Amino acid sequence: MLLNRRIIVGICGGIASYKAIDLVSKLQQAGALVDVIMTEHAEEFVRPLTFATMSHRRVYSDLWEASGEAAETHIKLAEEAELLVIVPATANTIAKLAHGMTDNMLTAVALATRAPLLLAPAMYTNMYTHPATQANLATLRERGAFVVEPEVGRLASGAIGVGRFPETATLLGAIHQVLGRHGDLAGRRVIVTAGGTQEPIDPVRYVGNRSSGKMGYNLAVEARDRGAHVILVSGPVALPPPFGVEMHLVETAMQMRDAVSDFITDADALIMSAAVADFRPTRVAEQKIKKLRTEATGQHREDEFSIDLVANPDILGELALALKGGHAGEQHTGISIPQLKRRLIRVGFAAETEHLVEHAQAKLQRKQLDLLVANDVSRTDSGFGTDTNKVLIFHADGAMEDLPVMPKTGVAAAIWDRVVPLLG
Ligand SMILES: Cc1cc2nc3c(=O)[nH]c(=O)nc-3n(C[C@H](O)[C@H](O)[C@H](O)COP(=O)(O)O)c2cc1C
Repeated sequence: MLLNRRIIVGICGGIASYKAIDLVSKLQQAGALVDVIMTEHAEEFVRPLTFATMSHRRVYSDLWEASGEAAETHIKLAEEAELLVIVPATANTIAKLAHGMTDNMLTAVALATRAPLLLAPAMYTNMYTHPATQANLATLRERGAFVVEPEVGRLASGAIGVGRFPETATLLGAIHQVLGRHGDLAGRRVIVTAGGTQEPIDPVRYVGNRSSGKMGYNLAVEARDRGAHVILVSGPVALPPPFGVEMHLVETAMQMRDAVSDFITDADALIMSAAVADFRPTRVAEQKIKKLRTEATGQHREDEFSIDLVANPDILGELALALKGGHAGEQHTGISIPQLKRRLIRVGFAAETEHLVEHAQAKLQRKQLDLLVANDVSRTDSGFGTDTNKVLIFHADGAMEDLPVMPKTGVAAAIWDRVVPLLG
């Protein structure tokens, strides 16, 4: 998505300006054409040579350089830019932008360009929360600027508070989201479930599975980058929450079912990539279950221990029933859909270790899905925890596609490519 995109990165004189080096480097590595413009005060913190080395392009700063080149170039830069990112945005530059002032190359380009403006303010807490700064940011937002909120954390002063410069991954997420806002999922609301569920046995143990959540998180990020409003319902995973998606963290299958049913009425698509446990312990012990010991000797006994399990709700199965107007079974009464506002495209996942095609086709039929993505989790390059996936995609009309091994980012793109035409 970033290949050959023209991005101007404006650097202000904030203490976090050194962190913007990493962002420029990552953008360049992703193939973007990055033009860095530094304010005079930014040069007090980082030398232009550092940004020139990382961007592989010359750095602009002095609008008044004697050759006249910068003066001539700034209009060209402004016209060609697809995005202007200001990182870190100081209180000073934010104030200037809000009032349309153009006393340096960065503010001049900001006024001259029609590219979207993305700001990442970073400063001492009192400067950030000051009504003047907040009013200036509100003005910029009203004019369409995108603002990545600073994080709460340790500031350069040593104080803890709001004002911290976001991580590079967050800024990259915001850049992708802004560049993709008019994509083929613009205006759509989609729900993605991810990760595995954890079904408690007692306060410290659970029945779980090996799902890492990588496939679901990639699906969420891909949809965000194509303009969708994404609701990510995630089981416990070791992945950071992606920027710009609405996160709902759950633990159990029942909680996942409730979260899905909360958002289903005005969703356009539901992709159930979560590995939802089929069964949960019938009873959850209130206290930690202890080892069994013989009363006389206190020795550990080798007795067997068993856990009774009961079936969890089948979220897509219930949904199929509810959509047909049927009644869900006694223990499967969770999905309530008062009135779906639009046709809901439903995509299921099947993780199989044998008879992949038969099981997948049966699941697609049984759950009345639009698409079913099946992967053989016994392969080393596919399934749980891997960064690649080898999937078969089954369509409602019986067609089957056998996709090559791909990074999960590519699989996510392939799935949305097939969902988009179904949205109508
Ligand atoms: C050591 C030091 C650190 C600073 N850090 C910040 C900062 O993090 N955020 C901010 O808004 N201003 C910060 N300032 C103040 C700005 O440098 C000052 O407002 C300057 O005029 C900004 O110019 P510019 O917006 O043209 O880059 C800092 C100043 C100093 C001396």
